[in-house]
Amino acid sequence: MSISEKVRQGMSAGSWIRRMFEEGAALKQRYGEENVFDLSLGNPVMEPPAGFFRELEKLAAKRTPGSHRYMPNAGYPETRAAVAEQLSRETGLDLGMQDIIMTCGAAGALNVALKTLLNQGEEVILFAPYFVEYLSYIDNHNGVANILPTDGQFLPRMDALESGINARTRAVIINSPNNPTGVVYDEGLLRQMGEIIRQKEAEYGTEIYLLSDEPYRKIIYDGIRYPSPLNHHPRSIIVTSHSKDLALPGERIGYLAVNPACSQHEEVVNGCIFCNRTLGFVNAPALMQNIVRHLQSVTVSVNEYRQKRDFLYSQLTGLGYEVVRPQGAFYMFPRTPIADDVAFVKELQKQQVLTVPGSGFGKAGHFRISYCVDDRTLQGAVNGLRQAMQKYRPH
Ligand SMILES: Cc1ncc(COP(=O)(O)O)c(C=O)c1O
Repeated sequence: MSISEKVRQGMSAGSWIRRMFEEGAALKQRYGEENVFDLSLGNPVMEPPAGFFRELEKLAAKRTPGSHRYMPNAGYPETRAAVAEQLSRETGLDLGMQDIIMTCGAAGALNVALKTLLNQGEEVILFAPYFVEYLSYIDNHNGVANILPTDGQFLPRMDALESGINARTRAVIINSPNNPTGVVYDEGLLRQMGEIIRQKEAEYGTEIYLLSDEPYRKIIYDGIRYPSPLNHHPRSIIVTSHSKDLALPGERIGYLAVNPACSQHEEVVNGCIFCNRTLGFVNAPALMQNIVRHLQSVTVSVNEYRQKRDFLYSQLTGLGYEVVRPQGAFYMFPRTPIADDVAFVKELQKQQVLTVPGSGFGKAGHFRISYCVDDRTLQGAVNGLRQAMQKYRPH
């Protein structure tokens, strides 16, 4: 046997999603790239903001000696301080560099946080639909996922949270704005969540961490101000990145922020620094740290994403799809007109439109559309979406 049993199982669990990608690639070969409308990936088509290239050019021209060496595992102090300053502005809390660890993306930050917190067999609560990689990350660190339901608007159900927390619960992962639904959690929901978690901590004599995965927090519409979970539970940790807000997913730059009010703050931060090192990340990329330090208040054009959202939402509802109107990120999660979401996604493939079945996010009967694509692709997909709907719901 060439690979471990666990890896083999992990690979086969996700294999049908991979098959969709492979079938999509075959379609592109057959019909030409321009005739296949790929709405399956969360890989932003937008280029990074102009400020990114300015900083990049400045650094290349300066050639500051020592700027490509090892550094403290938590990152450059100046970058950590710049992140803390921005987060303080956004949350109204007083964060400092001692609260921030630079990481290899939100994915790196999640793995660091979970490794730091989890003992063997401890539970991590997720709400379905969820970003599917959470399952692997939890498993990486010997945890067990406890998957709870959301309501009709894809908001976490508080009754489920109350009955779902038990003596083994160590963390709750939330993701707002959400992938795959685009919904944003409001202040009231976060307050209630914090209250329930603290009640349960008191009941079981445990400490439960709220991990807020928020790489989309700056991609938010309709004048909403992002409410920070840091204000609602002292044992909270932000895990995030600039993959989406600066369109830099290939550069692997993100950070983790531990709530300054956390009771075990120093130990948690030191644990995370240790795990950033020993998971083999060592430190977040030096070049990117030197760039994003100057771009903390910069974001890609949210207005462009909003226009895409408005276009897609009005098209989908016009075609008869049932869809919760997203207020952030760049995904929609419509209900499929038939119960079998995999069959429906295959039908869309026949129409040369690529999407992902809801089953891939732990919620069947839906499909995910990613609209971080160019307008031609988005407009081109409408005809296939119409044909597929008409096949099952002829007017
Ligand atoms: C909800 C969510 N969390 C985490 C990630 C990982 O992002 P990063 O590129 O920062 O590792 C993604 C990427 O798509 C995501 O959608």
